[in-house]
Amino acid sequence: MTATESSLEALSREDRRFEPPAALAASANVTAEAYDRAAQDRLAFWEEAARRLTWTRDWTAPLDWQPPFARWFVDGELNVAVNCVDRHVEAGHGDRVAFHWVGEPEDDTRTITYADLLREVSKAANALAELGVGQGDVVAVYLPMVPEAVFTMLACARLGAPHTVVFGGFSAQALVDRITDADAKVVVTADGGYRRGAPSALKPAVDDAVARCPGVRSVLVVRRTGQDVAWTDRDVWWHEAVDRQPETHEAQGFDAENPLFLLYTSGTTGKPKGILHTSGGYLTQAAWTHWAVFDLKPETDVYWCTADVGWVTGHSYLVYGPLANGATSVMYEGTPDAGGRDRWWRIVAEYGVTQFYTAPTAIRTFMKWGDDLPAQHDLSSLRVLGSVGEPINPEAWMWYRRVIGGDRCPIVDTWWQTETGAMMVSPLPGVTATKPGSAMGPLPGISVDVVDGDGVSVGEVGGGFLTLDEPWPSMLRGIWGDEQRYRDTYWSRFEGRYFAGDGAKWDDDHVLWLLGRVDDVMNISGHRISTTEVESALVSHPKVAEAAVVGAQDPTTGQAIVAFVTVRGTTTDEGDAFLQELRDHVAKEIGAIAKPRQIVLSPELPKTRSGKIMRRLLVDIAERRPLGDVTTLADPTVVQQIDDTMGALASRG
Ligand code: WTA
Repeated sequence: MTATESSLEALSREDRRFEPPAALAASANVTAEAYDRAAQDRLAFWEEAARRLTWTRDWTAPLDWQPPFARWFVDGELNVAVNCVDRHVEAGHGDRVAFHWVGEPEDDTRTITYADLLREVSKAANALAELGVGQGDVVAVYLPMVPEAVFTMLACARLGAPHTVVFGGFSAQALVDRITDADAKVVVTADGGYRRGAPSALKPAVDDAVARCPGVRSVLVVRRTGQDVAWTDRDVWWHEAVDRQPETHEAQGFDAENPLFLLYTSGTTGKPKGILHTSGGYLTQAAWTHWAVFDLKPETDVYWCTADVGWVTGHSYLVYGPLANGATSVMYEGTPDAGGRDRWWRIVAEYGVTQFYTAPTAIRTFMKWGDDLPAQHDLSSLRVLGSVGEPINPEAWMWYRRVIGGDRCPIVDTWWQTETGAMMVSPLPGVTATKPGSAMGPLPGISVDVVDGDGVSVGEVGGGFLTLDEPWPSMLRGIWGDEQRYRDTYWSRFEGRYFAGDGAKWDDDHVLWLLGRVDDVMNISGHRISTTEVESALVSHPKVAEAAVVGAQDPTTGQAIVAFVTVRGTTTDEGDAFLQELRDHVAKEIGAIAKPRQIVLSPELPKTRSGKIMRRLLVDIAERRPLGDVTTLADPTVVQQIDDTMGALASRG
C-alpha cells in the first residue's frame, strides 16, 4: 500500500470544517436523530425506509441473513416501475416533470412528465412482452443517454425482467462477453448517438456482437441520429414496435428478491463480474439515500446527476432513486464540452438545477478550464453538490465549493460501489460539518469497519482496509452464475466481512478518508478497469509477447493507464504508428476508455526471481519517481532500462 501511505501523510493535516447552512439544516429531510434511531435498531430503521415505497404485499421479516447471502424484506412484493412512475401519477403528480432531457445538439430537448413516462414505459413494456420478454428474461441495453434508455430499464422492471446495461463506449467484444454471460435474448440499442457534435454509430457494434451471440432473438433499435444502418430479420425499429402499443400496461408485484438488474464491473481477474441486484432492498436504499443525502424536495427541486446510465451511478441516482422519490431531473446526452466548455453551467442556469451530482474527474477538468466559464452563468439555484467515483482531493473539493457552490452549498462526497448498489458513506447535508476531501462517515443504518491485514479492527483512529460488517438492503446478491467467485472476491479476505477493495483511514476526529483501491483495479475517471483485462487485450495482439499494466496518478483522470509491453521476437515495429495500433487494439477489445495513456516498449519486464511482475516498480517508473528497492529482481538492469526509456519519452513530451 505505498500509494495509500503517501496519501495518508498528505491528508492528516486537514482540519477545516464546513457547517451545514442553517436554513438547510432547519428544513432538512433527515436530521441527526436518524443516526440514533438506526443505531438503536438498524432493521427497524430500514423497515421504515422501505415503507416509503408502495408494496403489493407486506414482508414477513426485514432480513434473512445466511452469510454471505441476504434476503431483505422477506416475502414482500412490489413492482419497481410502479414505484418509480405509476404511484406518482396516481397521487396527482402526472404533470410534474420527471426529466428535462437535453440532447447534445443545441435546442434538441424533450420534457417528459410523469404521465408521459407512464405512457412510454407501458408501451415499451407491451412491446418487450410482444418480443417474448417475461419475468427472468435478461434484456441487454446498449444505448446513448436518450430517454428510451430510461423507458427500457423501467419497462424491464415492470415485467420482472432483469436488464443489463452496457456502457455505449464499450466495444463489440465487451458486448459479446456480457450478452453471453447474462444469456440475454433481446438487445435494445440505437442507430447511434451524438459525441462531440457528430453522430457516432452504435448499431455496427451490436451487429458484430449479435452475429456471435446465437441466443439473441431480437434487436430493438431506437432511431436517434438517422444514420444508415445494416438491417436483418432480427432487427425491429423502436418507433414501429413500441409506438403502436396500447398506452396502458397492467403491472404485477414481484418478490422483493426478484432480480432487477445485472451490471458488469471489473474485478482483479480478466473476466468482468455480473453484479446482481434485486428489487425491494435495492429500491429502498437507492430511494432513501437519494432523498436524505441530496435533501430532495420533489415539489421544488431540479436534480441533475451527470452519470451515464451505463454505470451504477446512472442506475441508482439517475433512474431508480430519483424516480422512486418523484424527483424532477435533468438528463443530458452529451459531453461536458459539447457546444462550449460552459455547456453544463448553461444547463444548470437554464433549468434552475438545485442538486448537482458528478465525479471528481469532471471537477478537475473544469478547474483546468478556469473559473470564468462557470462565473458567466447564474448558478445560484444550486443547494447541494455531490461527488462520486473516486477520492476527491481537497483542492478540487474547495474549488467545487467555492466556484460552483458559491461558498454556500454543502458538498456530499458519497462513497459506494456497483456492488453496494447505493451510497454507504457520505455526509448528510443538513447534519454533518464536512472536511474537504472526506466522505466523513457511514450513513445511518450502515456499518463500516477499518481493519488491519489480519482483519482486526483498527478502532476509532487508524488506517487499513475498508470493510462492511453488517448486511445492507441494496447489497449485491451475488455474481451472476458464479457463487464461488462471489464468496472468494468479497467475503474470503476477512472472515464474515465484506471487503470492498479500498483502503481507508479514520483520522483523529474519527472522520473517514477513502484512500483508493488496494487491488489491481484502476480507477480511470471514476471507472473501474482491471489491469488484467487491459493486459489480456494487449497480449491478444499478434505482435505482443507480454504486457504489464499499471494505474499511474494523473492530474485529471485520477489514474491513467500505463502499459509496459514486450513484443514478439520477430517484430521490428517500434514506432509511434505501432504504439497507436496497440492503443486502438485495446479500444477495440474493451472500449475507448481502456486505451492506455502511454505504452512503453521494453525488451523485458521487471520480475522477481519467482517470475512475478513487480508492479510497484512499474508504478514508480510510470509516475517518474525514484525507484524503490530493486534487489529482489531477477535482473535489476531491466528496470533501469525501462526507466530510461520512460525518461526519454517524458522529455520528448
Ligand atoms: C471508488 C461507483 C473515494 C472506490 C459508485 C470504489 C470512491 C469504486 C468514491 C467503486 C468516493 C467511489 N471516494 N472513492 N466518494 N466513490 N469510489 O463500482 O474505489 O464504479 O471501490 O461505483 O470507486 O466504483 P464503481
